[in-house]
Amino acid sequence: MSFAGYLLLLLKGSCLAAEMTLILAEEGSSVMMHAPAIKNVNFTEWEYIRDSTPQFILQYYADSQLITVYPAYKDRVVFYQNNGSFVLQKLRETDSGIYKATVDLMQDKARKTSLRVIKPLPQPKLLSSSNLAGSLINLTCMLPQGTVADVSWKKDGHPLPPEKCCRLTWKTTMLQIRKAEKSDCGSYSCIINNSVSWKEAALNLTVTGLTPPARAAQMMTAAALVLAAISAVLFVIRLCQLGKHKLGKEAWEWLMMTILGLLCTSSLLLFAASVIWMQEDGHSAAFILLGLFLVAVIVATALTAVAMAPCRPAVLTHFRSKGWHRVILCITATTLVVNLLFTSLLLRSFHQLHERGCSEAVDLTIGFIIPAVAVLPILLLLFPCCK
Ligand SMILES: *[C@@H]1O[C@H](CO)[C@@H](O)[C@H](O)[C@H]1NC(C)=O
Ligand SMILES: *[C@@H]1O[C@H](CO)[C@@H](O)[C@H](O)[C@H]1NC(C)=O
Ligand SMILES: *[C@@H]1O[C@H](CO)[C@@H](O)[C@H](O)[C@H]1NC(C)=O
Ligand SMILES: *[C@@H]1O[C@H](CO)[C@@H](O)[C@H](O)[C@H]1NC(C)=O
Ligand SMILES: *[C@@H]1O[C@H](CO)[C@@H](O)[C@H](O)[C@H]1NC(C)=O
Repeated sequence: MSFAGYLLLLLKGSCLAAEMTLILAEEGSSVMMHAPAIKNVNFTEWEYIRDSTPQFILQYYADSQLITVYPAYKDRVVFYQNNGSFVLQKLRETDSGIYKATVDLMQDKARKTSLRVIKPLPQPKLLSSSNLAGSLINLTCMLPQGTVADVSWKKDGHPLPPEKCCRLTWKTTMLQIRKAEKSDCGSYSCIINNSVSWKEAALNLTVTGLTPPARAAQMMTAAALVLAAISAVLFVIRLCQLGKHKLGKEAWEWLMMTILGLLCTSSLLLFAASVIWMQEDGHSAAFILLGLFLVAVIVATALTAVAMAPCRPAVLTHFRSKGWHRVILCITATTLVVNLLFTSLLLRSFHQLHERGCSEAVDLTIGFIIPAVAVLPILLLLFPCCK
């Protein structure tokens, strides 16, 4: 064949290709194949061509109104006699190929449709690796292996703006948030799309400033503050009554023991909270000194409280001398000041950490109420015996 012949063939081929309609459909769906738009047709024939082997689908004779559907297509074909189109139902991947409609055996007027049946899109799942403020958060759009689809992302219903690009890295199915902050809170969705259909998975991202241990530590700090405040009130009562001898010696010792007991508990809570704080936020000289001070206070107050108890060990008797009393008052006052100061400081710092995210605040009411309620019976016991 001459060069011109080849060219002609090529042109013919591209002309045919241009006439061919391309249809993409999902497994299980239906698709309509259109016959050539020719009026008063006597005979319509549909063929399926795969690997250039034609196979009959149906034949229709207009005068006898006879439709012959071939066995492989029984139950899956709905034919329209008015225009020769047909609907192929319950599509399978093996239905991919070329469908050719010929009317009145006119090969040059035949109409071809190329069908590609693809698997339906799976439902994606959106997972976040963390939700901690300041950390790297990976949002992963989970898809079964082998899924062919475009992936795009939205935040709060809007496509992610390009200026976000510096902090948000696009990976095929992963969205990275480098240093999560309050503004990253919101509803994220990943959309997968194969041009036939699309599916979306959504996730509400709540960036939190406090880890679960930090939330517990915040609660402990609140309790420590309440205990320190109650002991401060009792201590003021103790100081103002100093020198007056309305109450018996027993009552004074009882009051002092209560103050020391409360302070000891408050210091223990504060110690635990500051250890957690250091684990979260790194060590600092102030907190290490505070820790050492608290350990000393815990030991001192515990010892003193025991020394004041009615059934104290004999060794501890000299703690009851006048000089020791001054020392105890001094230690108590210092501890009170330190505890009040540091609990307030810690609470403020926890609040600042919390503010970096958008999670709900820890409800500190329980932290305030439980110690207050627990101390109440002790005070009720104390005051009747003072009168
Ligand atoms: C053929 O007829 C059916 C049913 O009336 C219609 O849905 C379809 O669009 C028609 N096809 C063409 C090519 O007009
Ligand atoms: C269809 O059949 C009718 C008569 O039955 C005939 O007159 C007509 O020419 C035929 N049409 C074609 C396109 O062959
Ligand atoms: C997030 O993804 C990056 C890149 O794949 C990976 O190196 C990192 O370990 C992931 N981080 C988490 C917390 O999953
Ligand atoms: C699906 O992807 C195509 C390109 O592949 C795009 O033109 C179309 O807008 C997308 N549709 C949706 C709903 O995202
Ligand atoms: C996200 O939050 C909104 C409003 O609070 C709610 O309507 C939606 O269902 C949530 N989405 C998910 C995936 O939890």
